[in-house]
Amino acid sequence: DLKQIALDGEPGLATYDPGFVNTASCRSAITYIDGDAGVLEYRGYPIEQLAESSSYLEVAYLLLNGELPTSDELAGWTHEVTHHTFLHENLKQFIQGFRYDAHPMGMLMASVSALSTYYPDAREIADPENRRLQITRLVAKMPTLGAFAYRHGQGKPYVYPDNDLSYTANFLAMLFKMSEQKYNADERLIKALEVLFILHADHEQNCSTNAVRSVGSSQVDPYSAVAAGIGALYGPLHGGANEAVLKMLRRIGTVGEFIEGVKAGKEKLMGFGHRVYKNYDPRATIIKKACDDVFAVTGVNPLLKIAMELEKIALEDEYFISRKLYPNVDFYSGLIYEALQFPPEMFTVLFAIPRTSGWLAQWQELLMDKDQKIARPKQIYTGARTRDFIPIEKR
Ligand code: ACO
Repeated sequence: DLKQIALDGEPGLATYDPGFVNTASCRSAITYIDGDAGVLEYRGYPIEQLAESSSYLEVAYLLLNGELPTSDELAGWTHEVTHHTFLHENLKQFIQGFRYDAHPMGMLMASVSALSTYYPDAREIADPENRRLQITRLVAKMPTLGAFAYRHGQGKPYVYPDNDLSYTANFLAMLFKMSEQKYNADERLIKALEVLFILHADHEQNCSTNAVRSVGSSQVDPYSAVAAGIGALYGPLHGGANEAVLKMLRRIGTVGEFIEGVKAGKEKLMGFGHRVYKNYDPRATIIKKACDDVFAVTGVNPLLKIAMELEKIALEDEYFISRKLYPNVDFYSGLIYEALQFPPEMFTVLFAIPRTSGWLAQWQELLMDKDQKIARPKQIYTGARTRDFIPIEKR
């Protein structure tokens, strides 16, 4: 789709690349992807090793600071995040104001942008200490906001953070706690969520990160920039795909017939295909393995059989082979989320929470790059040229 076009009235050539298919919008040292080989690395560390051996907060530190933390650094970062998990009480009322059936991504996007009004100091983005404080606040408060949005939809009282628990264990407690007793989730579920959070933490210049960078390039506060990222992630072609996959799996009657419909262009096989990966998405491989750990606790999700059958047929079919369409991160994640009793509307929230560290690492990098200018693409104007105004009675 890349075309070089001489813009009317402008010297030289401009590139017409509406989906940024071949246009680099920035320089970045955060995440490396080799889409043909199916490689994903954060700051040079392979995703497989991080998923196996690391924790989400450790990975968030790595993304934000460039290096893995020492044990003191990790303890300090964990302490800071843990002590910023609470929300202002008025924000609770703000969430309570939504309709009972409001989509949790809509609630999340609105409440993150509302946070900018609680922290006007966040506009001091030139101060590195101040940036660090806002980053800590956002990473800490996202699970609380996501859990409140979930409980709102369930009509259940909100559960305040339990600062004795880890990041993911606390999130599960805020979601599922039903009595005064301490909530301790199954360790295997905590570990699975930790892995899912690591896999979703960053993915270089995807649609939502590009939105965060684009909005952030105006030098707005990080809450407003991240709210823009949440909006981009909400869409079914991006993070919303995990919700769409589950809804698709639920309504498939015959797998073969469904695939024929996809090939005839009636609909897409959601959770398949990727702009960058032209091979198996490495995150999908890890998630498929995590399915086994979760299903050992929750029982097997019956939709897994349909998903595996779809994958098998698609990987042997010329339509998918010739277009290099493989399962992406969203194909199997929804099955785990459903087994954990999440309604599909919550799936993209479970993506947004861990992606916050990636968005903020990219936002910080953008601000520190002296060559980065405000994002302002060119256009190819196709409309009418100068003409006289026509009074309304003459139109
Ligand atoms: N099912 C069926 N056909 C597909 C699919 C799919 N999931 N994805 C791509 N194709 C086809 C297109 O129709 C097109 O066919 P054509 O050449 O005959 O016209 C060809 O494959 C190339 O697809 P494009 O849309 O040009 O690829 P692009 O890179 O622009 O889009 C995208 C990538 C948006 C991810 C696409 O593959 C898609 O819509 N997938 C389904 C939604 C999804 O799973 N999104 C999550 C992505 S991961 C993430 O964002 C976290």
